[in-house]
Amino acid sequence: MLADFPELRDIPSPSSSGSSSPALDSNTLALLDDFFSAKAEEEQRFSDLVCATHDLDVDDDEHDRKPSAPARMMSVDEYRIAFGEDWQLSQFWYSARFARRLARAIHSLVDPETIIAFMCCPTAYVGFQHEYLHPGARLLEVDPRFDLLARSQFVRYDLYAPEKLPEDLRGTVGFAVVDPPFLNEDTNAKVIEALKLLLAPNAKLLILTGTSTEPILERLYNAPPLGPLVRTALEVKHEGGRLSNDFGCWGSWPESKDLGRDVSDDDDDP
Ligand SMILES: C[S@@+](CC[C@H](N)C(=O)[O-])C[C@H]1O[C@@H](n2cnc3c(N)ncnc32)[C@H](O)[C@@H]1O
Repeated sequence: MLADFPELRDIPSPSSSGSSSPALDSNTLALLDDFFSAKAEEEQRFSDLVCATHDLDVDDDEHDRKPSAPARMMSVDEYRIAFGEDWQLSQFWYSARFARRLARAIHSLVDPETIIAFMCCPTAYVGFQHEYLHPGARLLEVDPRFDLLARSQFVRYDLYAPEKLPEDLRGTVGFAVVDPPFLNEDTNAKVIEALKLLLAPNAKLLILTGTSTEPILERLYNAPPLGPLVRTALEVKHEGGRLSNDFGCWGSWPESKDLGRDVSDDDDDP
């Protein structure tokens, strides 16, 4: 793999004599090699996904070129390989096990007709759709890569432009799941603008976010259907435990405190 990066190959090893240039030790080189291998695998998985999507388009009815909803959703493990985290966009993916628990919890609260908005939480969408392929699921995201994943279920959503949300989705969302990209008041105020446009009158909201924002949540999400919020029993887990922030999950309906209590670890695969 390092053969593809001549600039690294040419860095002298620590054992080279007669050179005062800085050198990378073998552990660092091994780490770099792992990093580039993982990157290459991610790119390969992503381009496989692009090709598969194009194949689907060719099979679509010739007169109807609109992309259809995915007929099968990849697993969270496959997704993590194809969609690397972009830390500039504050992307930190949930663990596969947590995504599965979350999917089961959501499924217990919706019916087949519910429009479910997964806002800024693509792993939650993938985990849910892998299990249930719900026709009313929508993935609201700013990252255009997810257009390929969710096809007709993708809704471009920029936190800073809620007014651009599509007319036909407004007032129809019966269940919204949100993981705001930034842990501050402005971000939550913007999320609320979008939620007010999207939610149906009796909708439920689930918000997954850092516990440091709890005072903001109490203040801003204070009237139905946004709140008051109740902390659920779901313990949010990210892949590899990379996030040091403590996370929690809050629901907008009174019984939400029990959400997640009935899913024991024994119900999960390893
Ligand atoms: C904190 S992450 C939550 C991801 C979640 N942990 C998961 O695994 O699905 C926040 C998400 O917000 C998205 N995001 C970042 N900036 C955004 C913006 N301006 N508008 C909408 N979404 C944004 C990112 O792409 C990212 O997926």
